[in-house]
Amino acid sequence: MNETITKIVNAIRARDSLIFIETQEEDEAIRELQAIAHSMEVSLIGWDAVDHYKDLGIKGGRKAMQQSGQVSSLASMLNEISNYPSDAIFVLRDVNHFIHERMPPPELASTIRNFKILKQKLRSTGKTVIILGTNYNLPHELEDDFLLINRPRPNKDQLKQILLSFVAAQHWEDCLSTDERIRDLIIDAALGLTADQARSSFAKAVIDSGSLDENAIPFLLDQKKQIIQRNDLLEYYDNDITTDSIGGLDILKDWLNKRKLTFSAEARALGILEPKGLMIFGVPGSGKSLTAKAAAAIWQMPLLRFDIGRVFGQFVGQSENNMRDALSIAEAISPCVLWIDEIEKGFAGAGGGHETTVRVLGSFLTWMQEKKSTVIVIATANDITKLPDEFIRKGRFDEMFFVSIPNNAERREIINIQMLKHKLDPQDFDIERLVQDTSNRTGAEIEQAIMDAKINAFYENRKPTTNDIYNVIASVTPIYSSFQQKLNDPAYQNIIRSAKPASPEEDKC
Ligand SMILES: Nc1ncnc2c1ncn2[C@@H]1O[C@H](COP(=O)(O)OP(=O)(O)OP(=O)(O)O)[C@@H](O)[C@H]1O
Ligand SMILES: [Mg+2]
Repeated sequence: MNETITKIVNAIRARDSLIFIETQEEDEAIRELQAIAHSMEVSLIGWDAVDHYKDLGIKGGRKAMQQSGQVSSLASMLNEISNYPSDAIFVLRDVNHFIHERMPPPELASTIRNFKILKQKLRSTGKTVIILGTNYNLPHELEDDFLLINRPRPNKDQLKQILLSFVAAQHWEDCLSTDERIRDLIIDAALGLTADQARSSFAKAVIDSGSLDENAIPFLLDQKKQIIQRNDLLEYYDNDITTDSIGGLDILKDWLNKRKLTFSAEARALGILEPKGLMIFGVPGSGKSLTAKAAAAIWQMPLLRFDIGRVFGQFVGQSENNMRDALSIAEAISPCVLWIDEIEKGFAGAGGGHETTVRVLGSFLTWMQEKKSTVIVIATANDITKLPDEFIRKGRFDEMFFVSIPNNAERREIINIQMLKHKLDPQDFDIERLVQDTSNRTGAEIEQAIMDAKINAFYENRKPTTNDIYNVIASVTPIYSSFQQKLNDPAYQNIIRSAKPASPEEDKC
């Protein structure tokens, strides 16, 4: 029995008469409820906007009695439930269209009251009302009356079952690789999808590549990327950044490398905890986003970019639903890195008390605190003082790293990395002079200077020289000079003091 079914059965036994199940898969949930009703020997009666009253019991299960009156409205169905003569499970769909905060207040008030009365009446009966919805979306006055059960997307074991029964049903056993390692990769590639989405991806993969073997994996991953991107807060990030692409930031890189070991079964057995979250803040262009990407590569985890700013660009209600959906996708894909770039831009204003922002921030922080799955939040920020205090409170993130401008040794590394990245041979340049010329410059500025120098030289039909790079550098004001004012802000200094430096302190320029 899966965990959700156990929760539902326990709730029914404990006489929780009103239950809300959050699920992306109504049909799957109904199938589970059919099995539950069958094993508990009670009827399963459905209600929705089209079919109204419907017997959903399965063959061999208890038949539902005919309805006693018209049940086209939600109110009449609630009445029918309260008068129903025997124990039963009632599963209601489309309820959010019949009870929502935008209804005329008298109608809303009476629907809320009807549910509260029904709860009273069902207390001493064996009747259970279950509402299915993608996210809990009933008026907040009913929050305490309903037991909320989240039915997560399928986990690895469940997806394995889905895969095996799907190929059996389609008689595609021959298409499925017999290599357990490949099967594992196929299942990993589908993690994060609903059961229906996974089946559809498997079917498309067979049609596309003729098989479900290693050739199908890029196709499956691509399908997943497209499906995930339908939640417009999430982006599945292709990532080829490694620590070799980062110059300097040795303390931070060391932290990431050491944490890699915490994900092993051996570490878990010793009670070593995996990280929950990491905050990287500091000077613009200093490699914060680059490091977040590298973390996913070091830990060999998929990288999901979570655009938290968009949460607040949406309607109230919708924004929370989308956020919860995005987080549930991340949990299903876990272990993964959930990267929140420029987090302060998303949450700016939350301290100001805007009601939705504060509520969404609250539910995000609760999720971060309580999440059981390995979804490691890596947040990056420039102006960390714009973040609400709750966010940077001690213990929220495992560690906060402050990234400043690179020191001499770090710039040497960055110059070499960037030259190779841009197809230049460091041997053709006076690296030591460039190290001196680029003091107070960030990695991003060094990269930009190299790229511009290349273009300038190309325009004059020659190879770029050390002087070309110097000329670009000399013509641009360092970003650090304007950012320094922010850094000197006592509030910023305070946060720096509570953080770790990303690079060794000595030798700073
Ligand atoms: N330490 C570094 N080593 C190598 N390259 C770097 C480094 N820092 C920055 N770069 C180069 O600059 C680019 C931009 O850096 P990145 O986006 O990581 O900066 P950031 O700190 O996230 O900036 P912002 O605050 O503006 O978001 C990188 O893609 C990389 O090419
Ligand atoms: Mg960035």
